[in-house]
Amino acid sequence: MRRLLFFALAIALAPALTPAQDDGLPPAGEGNCAECHVDLTEGKVVHGAVEMESCDSCHEAAPPGHTYRLVDPIVDACVMCHDDPREVGGHVHGPVAEGKCTACHRPHVAEQEKLLVAEPPDLCWTCHGRALRTPEGRIVANIRKLVETSEVTHDAIDMVGCEGCHAPIHGTDRARLIAEGYPDGHYADGWQGRYELCFGCHDEELLGEDASVTGFRDGERNLHRVHVARDKSRACTFCHDPHGGGPHLVRRETPFGSWQMPIEVTFTETGGRCAAACHAPATWERLPAAAEGDTGR
Ligand code: HEC
Ligand code: HEC
Ligand code: HEC
Ligand code: HEC
Ligand code: HEC
Ligand code: HEC
Ligand code: HEC
Ligand code: HEC
Repeated sequence: MRRLLFFALAIALAPALTPAQDDGLPPAGEGNCAECHVDLTEGKVVHGAVEMESCDSCHEAAPPGHTYRLVDPIVDACVMCHDDPREVGGHVHGPVAEGKCTACHRPHVAEQEKLLVAEPPDLCWTCHGRALRTPEGRIVANIRKLVETSEVTHDAIDMVGCEGCHAPIHGTDRARLIAEGYPDGHYADGWQGRYELCFGCHDEELLGEDASVTGFRDGERNLHRVHVARDKSRACTFCHDPHGGGPHLVRRETPFGSWQMPIEVTFTETGGRCAAACHAPATWERLPAAAEGDTGR
């Protein structure tokens, strides 16, 4: 009985289902887009292009059906209205260089400011949750693993976020997209004013004459000063990984050209020993200046 009713209904409705309007949708390019596609036009952050009802700048109508072609590559649409971030000069961030704007930005509406797909660091983890390769073939470390599994994690990440040290994120003329105030690579010409990024939070006295301000000292010799405060200055990241690492964020290895140079640092109660290839194995000892039981820290 029920089946019979179904057939009767189907026959009665059949004439209405002519091919041209079988889905009841207007031919591509016609109709009030916002009226039906409400979920793409209303939200916390709405794209200016959607507010302008400029659907056709990204969707090319392909009538007669309600069919559309997405502009390909999509970046061609973005740069009709925006300055082209691929032209920032210097080092352009991988996905930007490849025109993958929608890997980070939603095209219609978003929960996040700047139409971001997610807030950093989650945004960054979509790609930096694995090791990557640059176009030149250099390996970029898995930063998520460093941050989430290292013995020590840098508190700066919670304080200023990834963008606190890497900006602007589309690209910069500085290596590793590092924000202003930090040198490119392992060495810097001179040290004064070269490490503002770190000294925004840490005490610049770290490089001063007074060895007592740092645990990295041998007797009265400030070993931070020895390594950093010189014409050919060793950058902090020669020895420290700014994301995560062993005790005191000291690296296990440091990139040196295409070589990962091991930095074999071992710590003792009162100092440590470094067996990197830079020099013969060397030790540092904060004592004997202090009394028994005092580790000099
Ligand atoms: C009468 C309601 C209605 C109107 C008006 C309408 N759409 Fe749609 N549209 C739909 C439905 C329903 C679908 C299929 C389900 C889906 O993907 O959301 C669809 C699908 C789409 C798709 C995905 C399919 C494809 O081929 O890529 C795009 C893009 C699209 N519409 C764009 C537009 C644009 C642009 C306008 C205005 C010029 C518009 N629509 C007007 C109801 C409508
Ligand atoms: C800035 C470019 C851009 C604009 C403007 C734009 N779209 Fe899209 N649209 C996309 C991209 C890219 C996709 C592919 C899916 C994705 O990345 O979200 C898409 C997918 C869609 C889909 C498929 C369903 C979905 O949610 O993914 C529909 C429907 C759609 N758009 C409708 C519209 C309508 C209607 C407008 C105008 C109000 C519009 N779009 C404006 C870029 C755009
Ligand atoms: C039809 C013109 C147009 C196109 C095409 C277009 N945009 Fe926009 N976009 C705008 C306007 C208008 C605004 C709002 C004003 C502004 O912030 O510049 C905007 C704002 C933005 C913002 C900032 C949002 C905010 O909250 O401040 C981002 C990010 C963005 N667009 C990314 C894109 C990306 C990615 C594409 C390509 C997929 C794209 N736009 C394509 C017109 C466009
Ligand atoms: C790796 C992620 C990522 C990619 C890929 C990316 N963006 Fe962005 N974009 C961001 C972030 C994060 C911001 C917000 C911070 C800022 O303004 O620097 C932003 C901001 C913007 C803004 C707003 C600028 C402002 O000053 O308000 C526009 C427009 C924009 N992006 C367009 C694009 C276009 C076009 C592409 C593709 C060529 C693209 N983005 C690719 C992450 C990305
Ligand atoms: C869609 C994938 C993607 C997303 C999302 C992404 N990145 Fe990247 N990133 C890459 C790729 C691929 C490279 C390597 C190519 C290159 O040199 O830019 C890279 C390179 C980098 C570099 C330079 C590494 C080097 O050794 O030159 C930094 C720094 C960086 N990303 C930071 C970030 C931060 C911070 C975020 C989040 C705000 C982020 N990335 C989001 C894909 C992504
Ligand atoms: C305190 C500053 C600081 C913060 C916060 C920070 N970084 Fe970095 N990052 C650096 C510096 C400095 C380098 C360069 C290290 C070097 O030259 O060896 C770097 C390098 C990188 C690289 C390149 C690694 C490689 O192997 O080439 C990536 C990718 C990266 N950071 C992503 C991120 C992400 C994602 C976040 C957020 C979770 C983040 N960074 C937070 C300072 C920071
Ligand atoms: C030659 C390697 C090397 C360089 C270069 C280096 N450090 Fe260190 N740093 C260390 C070692 C090793 C320790 C741990 C010393 C200990 O406690 O035994 C340390 C400790 C620290 C500490 C913990 C507090 C302290 O002083 O004991 C901070 C903060 C620090 N370094 C910041 C920096 C900054 C900022 C720079 C760049 C201006 C830098 N370091 C350059 C090797 C280095
Ligand atoms: C936004 C603030 C901020 C910035 C910028 C920052 N740091 Fe830190 N850093 C911290 C905080 C907070 C700690 C944890 C408390 C402490 O040990 O001082 C820390 C800890 C460290 C430690 C480990 C200290 C220990 O004994 O375990 C090292 C090494 C370090 N930072 C190096 C750097 C370097 C190198 C830079 C620049 C590339 C830098 N920091 C930039 C806030 C910052």
